[in-house]
Amino acid sequence: MALSMQNSPIELGEFDHYTLIVDDARAVAEFHVNVLGFRPARVQMVNAGSVPEGEYDMLNHILWLPGSDEKVMVVTEGLTEDSIFHRYWWRFGPGVHHVAYTVENIDDTLEKLREHGVETTSEEILQDPVSGLKQIFLAKKYCGYFVELIERNENIDAGEFVEDNMSALANTMQDYLKDSNSESDDNNPSVFIAESVEKVLKVMADPSMLPKWTGHKLVRKIDGKLVESRMYGDIDLKIESEPDGVCYTWSFEGFEKTIRMDISTEHDGVIVSTDLSNVADNDKEKLHKIISTELNVLAALVEGAPDKISESDSEIINQWHLEIHQRKGL
Ligand SMILES: [Fe+2]
Repeated sequence: MALSMQNSPIELGEFDHYTLIVDDARAVAEFHVNVLGFRPARVQMVNAGSVPEGEYDMLNHILWLPGSDEKVMVVTEGLTEDSIFHRYWWRFGPGVHHVAYTVENIDDTLEKLREHGVETTSEEILQDPVSGLKQIFLAKKYCGYFVELIERNENIDAGEFVEDNMSALANTMQDYLKDSNSESDDNNPSVFIAESVEKVLKVMADPSMLPKWTGHKLVRKIDGKLVESRMYGDIDLKIESEPDGVCYTWSFEGFEKTIRMDISTEHDGVIVSTDLSNVADNDKEKLHKIISTELNVLAALVEGAPDKISESDSEIINQWHLEIHQRKGL
């Protein structure tokens, strides 16, 4: 039976681009150019977080569709074994990864989709701070590929992309690469620090240290109270230190969110961990990754070895900062 047209809750604009994930982007791009008549637009290299700053782990051949100078196809290849798109290709094989449609107002569109229960791969819309380009992926389960919503503006032409968004979008794929047999799934993020409880507590309870090891980079004291500055206004922050842990509580308009980090002694040092068992499954995987990264950085700082902090850990924390900063509410 034919489908009957329903009133859709949103209005998509034109098709914008689609992206393939492959293991040899050059070869696939060449086939499209030499056999199918696509035209090369450019090659764009991105650091999506698995390599040090200044290096690249994502190669994109961007091609104009035949007969178009506005619509492109992106052929993407992960360049390192750890890179998100190499892992994605390994897990799902080559093929269409996502199809993007322009929208006039991505915030409104997303709100309407969410009212209909449509899920996305990230909680927040990814926004490039320079161009203002906004993008988000709808979850893959609806179509077998990701549908991307993209809001362009006069600063970002059709066929153009920015590295920050590409990298941030790439990293929203992490959940899809979760190994259901992996041991760490049920575990809480934790780290061993070869220092005394007192020394660890001192760093963890110090608000001026937070920007160095967490995504909370804009914490300051106003009239004796701690606040975290966000794009849409200040949020109150309270840090409570106890002999066996530190509680961080954010509050805003009557809502509170608390993260407790537990400290226990172990051999010649301590273990810092966070119990995520009460976190919604949706957020758990991501929070696990972020907090694990933060704890690694904390360990390096407390042990006085900041050079042990990897570029990819710094990148993860910087992206997390951006995401928190743009969050409405807690
Ligand atoms: Fe895209």
